[in-house]
Amino acid sequence: MQLTDAECAMRDGAQGDAVAAAMDLLIRYGEALDADRLIETDNVAGAFNASTPSVRPIAERGMAEVFSKLNLDSDKTLDIPHMAARTCQLITGIDDQNWALQGADPQMIEMQRKNEAFIGKRGINLFATCTPYQVGNVPTFGEHCAWMESSAVIYCNGALGGRTNVEGKESTGAAALTGRIPYWGYHLTENRFGNRHVRVDVPVDTMMDWGLLGYFTGEQVEEAIPVIEGQIGHTDLIKLKHFGAAAASSGGVEMYHIPGRTPEARTPDEAFGPRRAEASFVYDAAARKSVYEMLQTATDPKVDFIMLGCPHNSIEQVGRIAHMLDGKRLHPDVQMWVHTPRAIRDVAVRSGYVTLIEAAGGQVMSDTCPAISRRIPEGVRVIATDSAKQAHYLPAIAKVQGWFGSLEACIKAGLTGTWKGDF
Ligand code: F3S
Repeated sequence: MQLTDAECAMRDGAQGDAVAAAMDLLIRYGEALDADRLIETDNVAGAFNASTPSVRPIAERGMAEVFSKLNLDSDKTLDIPHMAARTCQLITGIDDQNWALQGADPQMIEMQRKNEAFIGKRGINLFATCTPYQVGNVPTFGEHCAWMESSAVIYCNGALGGRTNVEGKESTGAAALTGRIPYWGYHLTENRFGNRHVRVDVPVDTMMDWGLLGYFTGEQVEEAIPVIEGQIGHTDLIKLKHFGAAAASSGGVEMYHIPGRTPEARTPDEAFGPRRAEASFVYDAAARKSVYEMLQTATDPKVDFIMLGCPHNSIEQVGRIAHMLDGKRLHPDVQMWVHTPRAIRDVAVRSGYVTLIEAAGGQVMSDTCPAISRRIPEGVRVIATDSAKQAHYLPAIAKVQGWFGSLEACIKAGLTGTWKGDF
């Protein structure tokens, strides 16, 4: 791998042992990927948190050891300096305010807070969300990033035209300290063109429509790059967020084009570039129904938990939920958790949305989600969610039955305790 003089100096310890370990890790990682060189990045979104029981024995020896081991893969305890690149913390395992509601151990939240003090002091912005693009980290077109989290990566590449591969804890730790990441995969223009075609023959407009189309697309194209055309209705942040999260969970989609809507392709020709569609798929009414049915893992219509906010809700989504619950009361057997980034929760408090949701019996949570924290209210048997991604993961993780549907169907189930669905 070719290194610049500055990179050689980092490798040789000019900026201390932690940066040298980070550079060594990136060189080994890049060589394993056949990358010719590293690329500069000033946009890192990673997982630097200490919020799980398995981290506790390490955390007891200090947070420098946690960073060294988990984010730099080093057996030595290194002196961790300030981050070189603009860096943010993605979702964590515990809600800093609602940890008791989650049933988290008080020692775990104490450990998480100590860790946050450590990483915050070193320049890691504690967004604590899987949607950093909703709270201040919006990559510019063509910006080279080092991001983790499948729903964030596909949003960065597909919806914004930023450039990132799916990184890990170690590579984001190393990128944050050096401002470098291996130049391969989605950093290269030639790897970003489409190679599958999806023709949409049924109107796609609502948030649920976008979740279903995303789930279908991931199922069909797996890890390829789809170019999607047809009866595409209105697009916005919320819809592309749901589309991407679903496509990245049913398949491994990290990049897509909707010509004329997403930034890298005005036309199908631009989307495919020198490539061609190696396979084509049709999404029609029958396919839509079949995906909807695939996402239902429940048989019992008695619902006792509603999860809304995967990926984390935007402020408009929280406001909409508050409006739908205004003056109403959840069924006594049902609990509802509404997930949103902490910064958006603050706006929702100020806008009166949290008061309305709480008055109805719901909770507005931040920092985590049930699939990541692996925590849901005790005794829950049947969940309902408006997220195809959460419907894909949570039933297996929490050993519960799951219903998937529109926000309206979820709210109705919350108020009546019974799932009626959308078809
Ligand atoms: Fe985010 Fe958790 Fe969903 S990380 S995308 S809310 S599974």
